[in-house]
Amino acid sequence: MCGIVGYVGPDTPSERPLDVVMGGLARLEYRGYDSAGVALVTRSGLQWAKRAGKLSNLAVALEDAPPEPATAAIGHTRWATHGAPTDVNAHPHLSEDGRLAVIHNGIIENFKELKDSLIADGATFLSETDTEVVAHLLSREFERRGDLTAAMLEVTRHLEGAFTLLAVHESLPTTVVGARKNSPLVVGLGEGENFLGSDVAAFIAHTRRALELGQDQVVTITPDSVAVVDGDGAPVEATEFTVDWDASAAVKGGFATFMDKEIHDQPKAVADTLLGRTDGAGHLVLDELRISESVLRSVDKIVVIACGTAAYAGHVAKYAIEHWCRIPVEVELAHEFRYRDPVVNEKTLVVAVSQSGETMDTIMAVRHAREQGSKVLAVVNTHGSTIPRESDAVLYTHAGPEVAVASTKAFLAQITACYLLGLYLAQLRGTKYADEVRSTLAELQAMPDKIQRVLDDSEQVRELARSMEDTTSVLFLGRHVGYPVAMEGALKLKELAYIHAEGFAAGELKHGPIALVEPGQPVFVIVPSPRGRDQLHAKVVSNIQEVRARGARTLVIAEDGDTAVEPFADTVIRVPQTPTLLAPLVSVVPLQVFACELATAKGLDVDQPRNLAKSVTVE
Ligand code: AGP
Repeated sequence: MCGIVGYVGPDTPSERPLDVVMGGLARLEYRGYDSAGVALVTRSGLQWAKRAGKLSNLAVALEDAPPEPATAAIGHTRWATHGAPTDVNAHPHLSEDGRLAVIHNGIIENFKELKDSLIADGATFLSETDTEVVAHLLSREFERRGDLTAAMLEVTRHLEGAFTLLAVHESLPTTVVGARKNSPLVVGLGEGENFLGSDVAAFIAHTRRALELGQDQVVTITPDSVAVVDGDGAPVEATEFTVDWDASAAVKGGFATFMDKEIHDQPKAVADTLLGRTDGAGHLVLDELRISESVLRSVDKIVVIACGTAAYAGHVAKYAIEHWCRIPVEVELAHEFRYRDPVVNEKTLVVAVSQSGETMDTIMAVRHAREQGSKVLAVVNTHGSTIPRESDAVLYTHAGPEVAVASTKAFLAQITACYLLGLYLAQLRGTKYADEVRSTLAELQAMPDKIQRVLDDSEQVRELARSMEDTTSVLFLGRHVGYPVAMEGALKLKELAYIHAEGFAAGELKHGPIALVEPGQPVFVIVPSPRGRDQLHAKVVSNIQEVRARGARTLVIAEDGDTAVEPFADTVIRVPQTPTLLAPLVSVVPLQVFACELATAKGLDVDQPRNLAKSVTVE
């Protein structure tokens, strides 16, 4: 959950190492933002600065006391796991002789015993962090071996848990060494310079050529070389890929916040996720799906594992895949999956949905599923991340970098990718004819324009949100695919506006939760199309009447032309007519806009809400 950047350039000291690292941290700040720091290798030795609070605090410290020109640098923006967010606990952490600096993302689970033995051996510690243990161990190994790569290899053999580590030593002006275990690290390839980062956003402004790093690998970068070795020190040929995001995509593009930008990116995120998925004859081709057709034909159960918003995307997928493929689909919260002794085997297809590809709960669930013999397909947005690397196949969403902590465009892209998976399986297993697949695909390809229409008409929702600035509780109701939409709408409001919100299956209301409804209680209701399963529509209209009869303020999301809801709705928010199963792609958008606008009206930071991090890389 921290942002990490490393840079090494020509052996002539300059401002570039600091500029590159600070620029990278600014783009990674969403990964954690409670403290930040940098270490630089200069002609007069190692120099460093670190501050609690946002990156801007560090920038002020560097302006007040500018470091010397450097040849290498590492930088870190933190989401605290061990030790409060203070100057002392901020990274980098230094060896006792002050000549080596290390930064870390993750959790070293055995740090206490390592720290105790170091203290028994006379070491003194300044911070409460697990990371400082590495600075001590690495320094000792370096003094012993005279080789930072060998020292890193040896130290990482004694660490348990999850870590990305970067280290510099003042005696090595053009070297940065990195290591990763259960935590992300990618290499950026430059001309006469090279980069390291938690994800490609760290260096996207300088290069789009990148290398994936695998589990337990150690990488050594100099201005003209990148050497990767495995845990045993044997050289490894890393896979190069080209980042298809440009630097501009990672900035706000004219919007006031990343959250607003990304809500408006959604038509493109869906369109891009659909791109290149069919051959000339209109057949679905999912070329990253490296699982044999015979295995996919033999699948008798699908289990979706994910967390948070990604899990709600999985819930939407359940309805679609079961309807199109007639395969039972279970949706499991990843952190529950592993501990409930799930019944999965070689005939189970496990689908891991994740924007970051680094959610530790989901990674651990993927590992458990594979140990049980299941094939794992990743639906992930971030190239070069851990989950695709540890899965049998990957279906990338193409939402582009999602910087705001609360997920929006990735959610729609995940749903879209899961629809593609369902249609592909239906095509492969013959549960839908080719013409049916083609017509559903055509409906999917019409969705970006429909999403755009909802965005173009969103002023009504924004005004509603601003008028409800003092609201303290909102309920969300939905049925069928509207139920996960209700859950997601509630999550957005919780995450962004810090308001108690709860999503329910509309049919569940009368079994207890309706006791919550009192006069004036705002209740969003996501209404299914009357052109689909009409009994579903009638039942949801009844649910609106039930809450309205108890004084609720009914805020109804209904498709164009649905007049049945009007007598019972205080506000009707219109969305374009859409096939029942595809409706979440439009019905969630007003709820995203509502949460974002209400939080903005409350003066809250919608890009970096309190207590949250973009990627939860600890269990
Ligand atoms: C979404 O708004 C939240 N930030 C959170 O629920 C997120 O969806 C969840 O942590 C999963 O993250 P992932 O998609 O990166 O795995």
